[in-house]
This record gives sequence, structure tokens and C-alpha cells, in this order.
Amino acid sequence: MKTLIVGNWKMHLNTHDASLLVKRLNDQIKTQRSVDVVLAPNMLVLQPISLEIDRRKFGLAAQNAYSVDEGAYTGEVSFTMLRDLVDYVIVGHSERRIYFNESNDVIRDKIQASVRNEISPILCVGETKQEKLQHETRRVIHDQVTTALANLTSEEIDKVVIAYEPVWAISTFQGEQAKPSDIEPIFELIRSIVSDLYGHQVAENLRLLYGGSVTSDTVSGYLKIRGCNGALVGGASINYKEFSGIVEQAYALKNKA
Ligand code: 13P
Repeated sequence: MKTLIVGNWKMHLNTHDASLLVKRLNDQIKTQRSVDVVLAPNMLVLQPISLEIDRRKFGLAAQNAYSVDEGAYTGEVSFTMLRDLVDYVIVGHSERRIYFNESNDVIRDKIQASVRNEISPILCVGETKQEKLQHETRRVIHDQVTTALANLTSEEIDKVVIAYEPVWAISTFQGEQAKPSDIEPIFELIRSIVSDLYGHQVAENLRLLYGGSVTSDTVSGYLKIRGCNGALVGGASINYKEFSGIVEQAYALKNKA
């Protein structure tokens, strides 16, 4: 399975600065068949960026979209509108759950809309610091995964990527460094939930990413976790040296394997 490295630029970079970053990434990152590199800029710059990148080198992702295909929903952009533009949409990011009150049910509808529009959703799951302290991690992950996938068939689930992002490890919040040994049991849990829902083979084929304060120094530790297929990178993805360093590490690991 190819390694997937996604750069979530969050609400950073205007059109000019995004274009500058893309130029630098284009220069630094080589086309590599064993690693998929995906950029997730803000909605406004998706279109201009799509014309500037080499699509054989970079995939594109939106950071959010609305689950209804069309209608009177002021301020929203639908998956249908994005379908010819992006390969992925990030769904259920913890910043959306926390700041915009997105519930598991809202996220389930978005996952369904994404798949309906032939876009791969990157479903983000993860527990908060408080949930972790209360030993609720496994229940939280179970609820998030089962609700989000509730309406999908086993063919549709093929398109889904799941990113485990413990909220306490994301730089926006506490940004503690998660140990790879903390992550592995949660990856196992996610695969076992998917296996219970869709069978062993589907669970084996599922692409699982880690996200939370990933840098070029720490990425290989995470990529070496059993069952880890890539990384969802926040802060480090808007620094071209850091992000190309991360891609480089992913490539080196893949070549060694
Ligand atoms: P950081 O890499 O800044 O911790 O962000 C992780 C993240 O939220 C990616 O979606």
C-alpha cells in the first residue's frame, strides 16, 4: 500500500502565500510512486492551486464540505461542487467538532455525501485530553468510527481513509507528543471495529493515518507503527522545508522496506 502524506494547511495562507508555498514544494518534492502527497489548502485557494500544481505529484483535498449537494445553505460549499477539483475531503476534524459543534451524526452525513460524490473522505477521529484521562478513549473512538461509517456499504468503505488524531497531541490544543506505542493499540482498535462491521479483508485494506504534531524529526517513528499508512500533518505542512522533509522520510522508509 502506498504511503499517504496529507498537509492540512488549516486556515493559513492567502492566495499569494499559498502559491509561493506550492512553488517551493514543487521544486523540493520529486514525483514518487510509493508515496502519495496531498495538499489541503483553504477553500478559497483550492481552485488557483489546482492550476499550479503538477497533478502527478500532488493530490488535492478540501478541509470541509457540506453534506447536501445543492440548495439554500448560505456560506456552504458542497461535495458536488468539489468533485472535479479534489481527490479527498477532510471530514470530522477535531477543530470542526470542537469549534463548530460537528456531531458524529453530521459527520456521518458528510462521509456519505463524500462517497456519493466519488471523493475519498479522510475521516478524523480522536479523543480529547479529558476523555483520555477518564479512560474513555476506546469508547469515543468506537462511537466516532461506527457512527461515521453507519450508512456505507463494504464497496463504499474502500474509498474511506481514517486519521487517528488524538486531540491532546494536536498543536492547536495541548500539542503533547504522542508516543508511537500509544498509537498502535488505537490503530488495532480501529481496524477491529471496521473488521466487525465489514469483515477482515476490508479492515486490512483500510488506509490509516496518524496526525498530531508530526514533524520531519518524528514522522518516521509514526510511520513505523504497525498498520500505519501515512500521516496527516498540520503546522509542519506550511513550512516547505519541514513538509518536504516529511515526504522525504516517508519515501526513504518505503524504499528500505
Ligand atoms: P498539527 O500537526 O499542527 O499538530 O496538526 C495536526 C492536525 O490537526 C492535522 O489535521
